[in-house]
Amino acid sequence: LFGSAALAHAQAYPSKTITMVVPFAAGGPTDTVARLVGQSMGTKLKQQIIIENVGGAGGTIGAARVAKADPDGYTLFLHHIGQSTAPGLYRKLNYNAIDSFEPIGLITDVPMTIVARKDFPAKDIKELLAYVKANKGKVTYANAGVGSASHLCGMLFMTAIGTDLTTVPYKGTGPAMNDLLGGQVDFMCDQTTNTTSQIKGGKIKAYAVTTKSRLASMPDLPTLAESGLPGFEVAVWHGLYAPKGTPKPIIDALTGALQVALKDPVVKQRFADLGTEPVAEAKARPEALRAHLKSEIDRWSAIINKAGVYAD
Ligand code: MLT
Repeated sequence: LFGSAALAHAQAYPSKTITMVVPFAAGGPTDTVARLVGQSMGTKLKQQIIIENVGGAGGTIGAARVAKADPDGYTLFLHHIGQSTAPGLYRKLNYNAIDSFEPIGLITDVPMTIVARKDFPAKDIKELLAYVKANKGKVTYANAGVGSASHLCGMLFMTAIGTDLTTVPYKGTGPAMNDLLGGQVDFMCDQTTNTTSQIKGGKIKAYAVTTKSRLASMPDLPTLAESGLPGFEVAVWHGLYAPKGTPKPIIDALTGALQVALKDPVVKQRFADLGTEPVAEAKARPEALRAHLKSEIDRWSAIINKAGVYAD
């Protein structure tokens, strides 16, 4: 779209339903954030935003799909920290994490929790470590594929405890949670946006939270540092993107709607219930997401190169 045609298109925007692609399965943590934010943005834009789940390969299949979509404002992409780990982990990606997208803004930083099936024998992190060491190779660890948040947290956890676990990949931690509830896998490290209600309902065991301080939403849950693993902190940042070439007036409209959604009392309350909060308005902007993504790609690529772990 060029010149006056582009302007007319942008002025009429949005004139039909918008699709927000989530690169993980439905019912999981990224899906939860996307549905909440998408609904509120849709109200502001006076058009429905529907969620399309394109899971697999740690989020890279969904990213590749959006990179190829028309840059007309009707396909958006909500992804998390995985957008910054994939360039280091995957030597062959058929998109560029920076150049294939127009950033819209940061959304939230979500804490993670170490959780296990309800009848897992260990009662605290100390017992969990002892059990894992005594049962090497037998303890199964669910994750959402290489580059997912659950994969990264699991890698950090295994490094911290000095033991390997048998990983079981899923298209998202939504389905992984179903298997944890059913007892088919032993444990995982997953975002509070997916674990809070199951922990509070007593359906799974929770050992620790990956933030520096305890969460107001689950004050009884100790931090990993309190549990004997200091310096192990993870928070899963989320961002919203459009395909490269989406006209600036459309990006501006989407940035405005994102900022309104992040101030929506319903979104704020739900985030608080799930142990998180929206980012400050200054971060819900294209420049802030662009800068954050670049620095995170540098940071993770260095960590990944040092560890020598690759997806292919
Ligand atoms: C999901 O939505 O399934 C998660 O964000 C997966 C993950 O990164 O662990």
